[in-house]
Amino acid sequence: MVPWLGEEEAAAAAEAVRSGWVAQGPRVTEFERAFAAEVGAAHGVAVSSGTAALHLGLVALGIGAADEVVVPSLSFIATANAARYVGATPVFADVDPAIGNLTTATIEAALTSQTRAVILVHQGGVPADLDAIRALCEHHGLALLEDAACAAGARYRGRPVGVGAQVAAWSFHPRKLLTTGEGGMVTTDDAERAARMRRLREHGMNVSAAERHASAKPVLEAYLETGFNYRMTDIQAAVGLVQLRKLAATVAERRELAARYQRELAAIPGLISISDPEYGETNYQSFWVRLDDTFPVARDELLLRLSEAGVSARRGIMAAHLEPAYADVSTPSLPATEALSLNSLILPVFHGMTEAQQDRVVAVLKAAIHG
Ligand SMILES: Cc1ncc(COP(=O)(O)O)c(C=O)c1O
Repeated sequence: MVPWLGEEEAAAAAEAVRSGWVAQGPRVTEFERAFAAEVGAAHGVAVSSGTAALHLGLVALGIGAADEVVVPSLSFIATANAARYVGATPVFADVDPAIGNLTTATIEAALTSQTRAVILVHQGGVPADLDAIRALCEHHGLALLEDAACAAGARYRGRPVGVGAQVAAWSFHPRKLLTTGEGGMVTTDDAERAARMRRLREHGMNVSAAERHASAKPVLEAYLETGFNYRMTDIQAAVGLVQLRKLAATVAERRELAARYQRELAAIPGLISISDPEYGETNYQSFWVRLDDTFPVARDELLLRLSEAGVSARRGIMAAHLEPAYADVSTPSLPATEALSLNSLILPVFHGMTEAQQDRVVAVLKAAIHG
């Protein structure tokens, strides 16, 4: 991944600096409105990271101590950590081996009488099957937090991921398609929930610093509950506004590069490329391939060969339940998660990637058929 940043972002950041207002202010408000509109949500609350967005989302959904939260193990570790931040217990569920996302069956297998919420990750930008999973959560009275950290620009049944989400959490880390350096956003259609998250990101204050500054009269703030400092800066939001205008082009370019990989790699036995699920479109934030038992070279050896050819590939998505931080959580075997995490790799896709660069990647993979 190489973030697509240029002079326009640099100028926007400089303009924010020159304005003298660099903390959360008018540009954050503008970015929140524009991003929420882009993903089809009524409200956006900008925060300092995707992790902060997940944390605030769980607080706003009322999840806390003694609650169990079903999460995929196959995710960046921040997904499971968020459950622990609110004192809840993450319960790891398996995923669909083809797309790396939770399914109704894997969620059901993890439910207990203590389950209060599900964190549904749209892994690598591949949309999860929202209709089925929303219906399941409604049936069991569970809150549903969508971890859409990777999913800006992905679509579910023709509409942007984000539409209809109880709460969705987004990341603007440079690994994502839209970056503000660090940053995140929580989106929701619920005005009260949004207002509470706005307060919580700013120490629980009932009036924001920007509102107090804008007022002609002195305004005394009150602190309604224990909050956090999860604010985004106006410099970040200025960059985000430019990035947002490029999102559609970014996704279109990645989908073209992915289609070319899919064509070129289709003939390699034992190597399966990620592709769209039948109900939606991935943004190809991560283009991964998985190797089945018949592939003659092990994943780590293949990564080494790619590296020796000057190709920066990465291991597949991690499995949190295999990490020391979660050694104390007793987890049944998660065969699809373990197979995907151990036998997949993420290939380079970035703005301006040439056919010649892609051919170099493909050549290493094709050569591996011979062992
Ligand atoms: C699925 C998922 N959730 C959460 C996060 C955390 O986002 P951030 O790095 O912005 O805190 C990431 C990003 O790395 C992610 O991939």
